[in-house]
Amino acid sequence: MAGPNDDGVCRDSGDATTAPGDFPTLPVVVSLLAALQPDTPDSFDQVLALARCEPCLAIDLLQQAGRHDPPESGYLDSLETALSRIGVAGIRALIDRPTNVVFSPGTDAQKLLWLHSLQVATASELLAERTPGGGVSPQTARLAGLVHDLGRFVSYRDDPLAPDRVDAFGYQTPDALQAAERYSSTPDHAALGEQVGAQLGLPPLLLQVIGGHHGASPPAPGTRAARLIELVRIADTISLHCMQGDRSQLNQVAAIVERVTAVPMLEHYPALLQDLPSIAERTVELAFADFERLRIGRTRYHDLCDA
Ligand SMILES: [Fe+2]
Ligand SMILES: [Fe+2]
Repeated sequence: MAGPNDDGVCRDSGDATTAPGDFPTLPVVVSLLAALQPDTPDSFDQVLALARCEPCLAIDLLQQAGRHDPPESGYLDSLETALSRIGVAGIRALIDRPTNVVFSPGTDAQKLLWLHSLQVATASELLAERTPGGGVSPQTARLAGLVHDLGRFVSYRDDPLAPDRVDAFGYQTPDALQAAERYSSTPDHAALGEQVGAQLGLPPLLLQVIGGHHGASPPAPGTRAARLIELVRIADTISLHCMQGDRSQLNQVAAIVERVTAVPMLEHYPALLQDLPSIAERTVELAFADFERLRIGRTRYHDLCDA
């Protein structure tokens, strides 16, 4: 495998043009798959433990599973389900497939794509646990949160300095992030993610989240897709607020979520607002721990929280 370029993306083929299925991955994933013995009892657990933390591996698993079941069959709503559908043969296929593109994120803006995905995955999972009866399992919420910004990873793959250009404009809310994309001539990540996700054969429920988590084409109120998008929108706002300062400002998170993410779920679960500071605190802790697994170093946000 070739080493990464200065921009943090390595294309082993030497060709800058990538097919939609050439979804990139981190060196830690390449190492895991190289060492994995699919016939051993803990191989599923090893893949699941990393896929719960790494959006690109999660996408790979969903692609593999989509070859076993048509995406619209409704089975692929969690990584656990996807792994059970692909079985040992699917894990072998994952190991044997060529890895054309490897991410080695070097700048803060690049690394924060993963930390943000982990925070949104974690917060979505915690929110689903606190809203029983909402029709969304914690496993589905985690997967949706993990891959919600697929389009930002596609932008990074196709234009390695895109995350840095967007980051230079600064943003503190999901709407401000989309404005920063417009100012920096970077594609709208929600639309791009939905388009590429469809080419990859991702399940319709996830495509709705990827394309709709900034408010475009909202599904009918009360549907499972609508509830899942609400969870992810709250989690997205929590994460972007967390990244703005140290932990002392987490007690303001309820006011921020109420202001920028006025979704019906907050009316159905009025106690949720009071729980948001503790959910944010737990999210920061758990996401930092999961980020360690990815072995891509520290970020400015780590420094903020350590200060
Ligand atoms: Fe987003
Ligand atoms: Fe996001």
